[in-house]
This record gives sequence, C-alpha cells and structure tokens, in this order.
Amino acid sequence: MKLGIVGNGRLGSALKASLNAIDLDVHVFNREHWADVQRHEACFPDLDVWIVCVPDDAALAVIRELAVKRPAARLVCTSGGLEMAEMYLAWGAAAGIAKLHPLQSFAKREQRVFESNTHFALGGDTELCELLESWVTNWRGVAHRLGDDQWLLYHLAATLSANFLPLLIRRGSELLQSLDNSQTNALSWLRPLVEQSVAFGLDAQLDAPYSGVAIRGDTQMINRHADLLASIDPAWRETYLQLCQRMSDRRLN
Ligand SMILES: NC(=O)c1ccc[n+]([C@@H]2O[C@H](COP(=O)([O-])OP(=O)(O)OC[C@H]3O[C@@H](n4cnc5c(N)ncnc54)[C@H](OP(=O)(O)O)[C@@H]3O)[C@@H](O)[C@H]2O)c1
Repeated sequence: MKLGIVGNGRLGSALKASLNAIDLDVHVFNREHWADVQRHEACFPDLDVWIVCVPDDAALAVIRELAVKRPAARLVCTSGGLEMAEMYLAWGAAAGIAKLHPLQSFAKREQRVFESNTHFALGGDTELCELLESWVTNWRGVAHRLGDDQWLLYHLAATLSANFLPLLIRRGSELLQSLDNSQTNALSWLRPLVEQSVAFGLDAQLDAPYSGVAIRGDTQMINRHADLLASIDPAWRETYLQLCQRMSDRRLN
C-alpha cells in the first residue's frame, strides 16, 4: 500500500515515524514539495491513501485539490475540529474519506512514535476506519469511533482539558521568575504543585479535585491578586477573575 502525508510538521513527522515503525512506507510532502507536485501534473504521485496533516485552516483546500487530482485514492484527515460534513463536501463523490485524530500533543517537529495507550478518535468511511483501527492496534493505542456530528464537541473537550495548561503554567512561572530569575528554577518550584493538581484533575474518584483561593471563597485574596495583576498584566487580570468565577460556580453546585 502506497501512503502519502501532506504536511511535514509536528503531527506529520510523528505519523511518519509511527507508520514506519509498523513497516509501512510513506512519502511525506512538505509545503515546497506539495507546491511542486501541484504545478507539475506529471509528478503528481499515484498513492493509495493520502493523509492530510496541514493546519486546520488549510486542510479543506488540500482535500479539494486531491479530490480533483486523485479521486480514486482514499483520504485521511487528521484535523480534530473540522466537521465531517465540510470534509465530505470538499471531497465530493471521490473514494472513501475518514478522520484519524490522536489524543497526544506534539510541541515540536520530531520523528517520535505515538506512545502506547494513546487514544485515537476516528470516523468516516467504514472500510477506511477498519484500516486505521488496524494501525492503532499495531501502535498499541485505543481507537474510538465517532459519529459524523460528534467531532466538534470531542475537539472542544480535548482543547479545554489540555491545551491551556502549559499557558497557565508558563504565566505562573514567569511571575515567579521575578523572584528567582531563572525559568528552570521557577518551573522546578512549581513542578510538585502542578503535578499534584493534574493528578487530582485526572482522579475519577474525586468529585471536587480543586484547591486554592477560589474554591475556598477567599474573595479578599482574589481581589488582592487581581489588583496586583492589574499593575503587571491587565489582560490576565480579566482571565484570572473569569477562572475564579468558573471555580466558584463549582463551589456553589
Ligand atoms: N501537533 C499536534 O499535537 C496535533 C495533535 C493532533 C492533531 N493535530 C492535527 O494535525 C494537523 C497539523 O497540525 P501540526 O501541529 O502538525 O501543524 P504544523 O506543525 O504547523 O505542521 C503543518 C505542516 O503543514 C504545512 N503546510 C501548511 N500550510 C500548507 C499548505 N497550504 N499546503 C501544504 N502544506 C502546508 C506546513 O509547512 P511549513 O512548515 O512550511 O509551514 C507544515 O509542514 C492539524 O489539523 C492539527 O489539528 C496536531
């Protein structure tokens, strides 16, 4: 089976390494190669499965291009948030189309295989999903089939639960750096606290995995924090107060 990945970024690199690890050859197109094959019709390869690994906003254009150039191939898109309906529309009446989305983050471009026990959401064409499930099994991952109308909610859930944690950690450590002057030291001060909070959040036995001023209802302290933020970083004052309010809603429930 001949496979191609359009997009040689963070996920594209990991996907290539993971496919190679289960003895599948894959041709990767970075932005330049992709532009080249688009310009020269004769160079456009005949592959069995194309995997689209470009940013979400660029994915539909790539899908449309492939629908015109290679309608008999099968197509896999790795965008978590893109609606299936949009993909079907872009792909038209061409062969099978499916989605494969790993619940694992890649912060840099490196040839790193998926970790065991990674969960993957997949959906779309039944036969193509069976192929994707066989890859997931070989990667020792866990596959979940989603219905066509479940992707946006799934993607929002993953984004809310994980994507902002590094931002919050870094903003806190930057404040601490003004006391210690080193990012490494600030992060090491915070590590046990952050790890404990993540462990609490992931513990299904805990109904209220929260701690800190907002869950205790320490309004005066919240206001003092907000005043300090107003003098350092006013935009974060608003974010902080909003987060305190969300936590406080949990306290009332
Ligand atoms: N990273 C993750 O942890 C992760 C996890 C799950 C799913 N995903 C999904 O994977 C997809 C790619 O994300 P990513 O994080 O790998 O992005 P990325 O690191 O920014 O890589 C995107 C790649 O696509 C190329 N590219 C951008 N626009 C293009 C275009 N119009 N035509 C052809 N190639 C283009 C980029 O080229 P240049 O380098 O030249 O810009 C780059 O090689 C997204 O749909 C994302 O939702 C990512």
